[in-house]
Amino acid sequence: MTEPPLQIAPSILSADFSALGRDVAAVERGGADLIHVDVMDGHFVPNISIGFPVLKALHRVAARPLDVHLMIEAPDRYIDSFAANGAAMISVHVEAVPHLHRTLSLIRSVGAKAGAVLNPSTPITALEDVTQQLDFVVVMAVNPGFGGQAFIPHSIDKMTRLRAMLDRAGVSIPIEVDGGVDGGNAAALVRAGARILVAGNAIFGTPDAESATRALRTEAGRGL
Ligand code: DX5
Ligand code: ZN
Repeated sequence: MTEPPLQIAPSILSADFSALGRDVAAVERGGADLIHVDVMDGHFVPNISIGFPVLKALHRVAARPLDVHLMIEAPDRYIDSFAANGAAMISVHVEAVPHLHRTLSLIRSVGAKAGAVLNPSTPITALEDVTQQLDFVVVMAVNPGFGGQAFIPHSIDKMTRLRAMLDRAGVSIPIEVDGGVDGGNAAALVRAGARILVAGNAIFGTPDAESATRALRTEAGRGL
């Protein structure tokens, strides 16, 4: 099986929304592989973030693929629109969709990579019967809805078990970790099997997002 590469995905939720183009350019100079875009509907999570017009604008300025994390109810209604507005990767919460197999197939049918997201309380067994429909899995290391929350340490053990389950199923897809990621836990996350590291506060909460992106990759690389 080919090992997925290590990728850094800055989350623009913590960027300066009045200067998104500038902030995206900074993290791209710092070596960001993906731009993580958090979409929240005020129902599935207790917060409202961004939608199609902002995604479309990001697509115009970003050189890197847009990794769109849907924290919304009934996402099936909007999958084609997210792809049309520039999403290269689309992930849905397993807690938000009754027919996960159908939703993942729908994402692939519009030409995007399909991901499933697990909340901290959702067991990895929720994915056991859809491993062939997945292009990546996202493990939430915080309860979704806000940037800057504290990392839940149990996520490390969960990723180790998830990696083993995916290997048993014969799929080498990457595990993405989202929430509370920083230089202090990056190497441990990679050691546990994470290959896509999302970071908002650890990158945009610093005065220099470019250097913070580079620093996070260095720390993460120690776990390989
Ligand atoms: C949380 C979002 C995350 C968030 C991560 O609901 O899904 O992507 O922006 O932010 P940090 O890295 O600050 O926890
Ligand atoms: Zn996210």
